[in-house]
Formats: sequence, C-alpha cells, structure tokens
Amino acid sequence: MRIVYVNGDYVPEDQARVSVFDRGFLFADGVYEVTSVLGGKLIDFAGHAARLKRSLGELAMAEPVGEEELLAIHRELVARNGIEDGLVYLQVTRGAADRDFLYPEAGTTPTLVLFTQSKPGLADPARAAKGLSVISIPDRRWGRRDIKTVQLLYPSMGKMMAKAAGADDAWMVEDGAVTEGTSNNAYIVKGDTIVTRQLGEEILHGITRAAVLRLAAEAQMKVEERPFTIEEAQGADEAFVTSASAFVMPVVEIDGAPIGGGRPGRVAARLREIYLDESRAKAV
Ligand code: PDD
Repeated sequence: MRIVYVNGDYVPEDQARVSVFDRGFLFADGVYEVTSVLGGKLIDFAGHAARLKRSLGELAMAEPVGEEELLAIHRELVARNGIEDGLVYLQVTRGAADRDFLYPEAGTTPTLVLFTQSKPGLADPARAAKGLSVISIPDRRWGRRDIKTVQLLYPSMGKMMAKAAGADDAWMVEDGAVTEGTSNNAYIVKGDTIVTRQLGEEILHGITRAAVLRLAAEAQMKVEERPFTIEEAQGADEAFVTSASAFVMPVVEIDGAPIGGGRPGRVAARLREIYLDESRAKAV
C-alpha cells in the first residue's frame, strides 16, 4: 500500500487523516505543487519550492516546514514508495478551525500532506510522438491564477468537456486570447518564433515554462511573450504545452483543425529533448 505523509508522519494511505474542519476542505483554502520524478530523482525541486513559498505568501499562510525539510520529505516519500518515474503531490492548507470566512485570528497549524503517484515511463517518447488534441473553452476561473490554489473544479470541468468532445485537453480563452491549458501552459510556433502568453495574474507561472523559455533563449530560439488567439494558433506551424507532468507535449489539433499537418513539430521535439536532458542531469 502507498505510504503518504501527513503532518510529520509517514502512514499507509488508509490511515491518513485530516480534520473535517480543515479549511482546505471547507474553503479550498490551500495551495499545492506537483514535482515530477525521473530515475528516482526530483525534477526542478528548487523551482517548485520557490513557487510554493510565493503562493503561501500571497495568502498570508504560514510555511509548514523549511525548504530543506521539504526536500527531505519528498525524497523519503519517493524512497518509501519505490518511485522510479512518477509524481509527488504536495498540498498545504491553512489548517483546521471552526467554520468562519475570516482567516482565524489566533492562527492555525497548517496541514501538510504529500503523496506519490507512480507513472512508469512518464517521459516515454510514445505520447509525445502522437501529440494531443485540444478544444477551446471559456476561462471561467477566478482572477488569481498565479497562485497555485487547490480550487481545481473548473480545470476538472474543462477536462470533462474535452473528454466529451473526444479531445485530450482544453485551452482556456479570455477576452479573445488563450490564457493556458487546464493544467499546463500553452505555446504556438510560427516560423522560428515561439509565442506564449506573458506572465501575470491570468496564468500560473509554470516552473517548466521558466526552464523551457530559458533553454530556448540559450539555443538562440526567438520567443515572444504575448497573448494569442485560437485563430492564430490554428494557423501556426506548431503548438505545444508544458507542465511538470507532461514536460513538453506537442498539440496537433485545436478545435478540430490540424496543426502542422496534424503531426508533432520539430521545435517542440527539440525543446522536449533539451528540457529532459537538462532536467535529468540536474535532478536531485
Ligand atoms: N499543473 N497552468 C496550470 C493551470 C497548471 O495547473 C499547471 C501545472 C501549469 C504548469 O506548471 P508547471 O510547469 O509548474 O507544472 C500551468 C500540474 C502539473 C497539475 O495540476 O497536475
């Protein structure tokens, strides 16, 4: 059985307990991170730890443990569950308190939960060789998407809409421009230029995005950070998404229109390769 971490203890998943008064449960008053594991090692842990700190700060939430201890917990959980390739999910909530919209004045002990998912072959080329189909849906999330909160109901609805339409995922559109995918950042490629929406409160500041854009610049690729429309994407040479669980994943169809002849493009393939190479080399 899977071993999970709850507030200082490593316990079998069926013995893990969180209060019914936990504000994560009552108010979605919590944040999370997802870190991938390749070859038993964590990919870009420092980036995820830094974003976690920022998310907590934006919500005036206490840091449950320091970065060093957080790394130790991640590693211990990977070891205890024998994870070769997979994901570590970290959830922090403000903790339990009698139900009240206001943050508890006396403060609370944050709830810290981590669990793993084993995903053998997470970085296998097979999925990337096929590419994803996406549909566009209106972005109906709240306005602070830069904070990685656990309010994932709309992304969940978006994945269901995609499934119902026979697609793999959805890209969200606001004021005529693509914000991001339901659980990833969105990109198009036109000629030799990579286009992706600029950072702001409208999108999550992807850790994979930061690494991929840095690697693209180092490889002398041109990058434009600006909004783009679904129509522009449908006329692009390539499209792709990035996230900690998909790395760099080509998109080959948008609202039924094939992109780049319906086959993954060279820019996405190259970025995936250099991202995975560097990430494995720097993994902890
Ligand atoms: N999702 N945008 C959204 C809305 C996301 O949920 C994610 C990550 C990203 C990519 O961020 P990163 O590169 O740091 O993973 C962008 C994670 C993987 C999830 O919820 O499963």
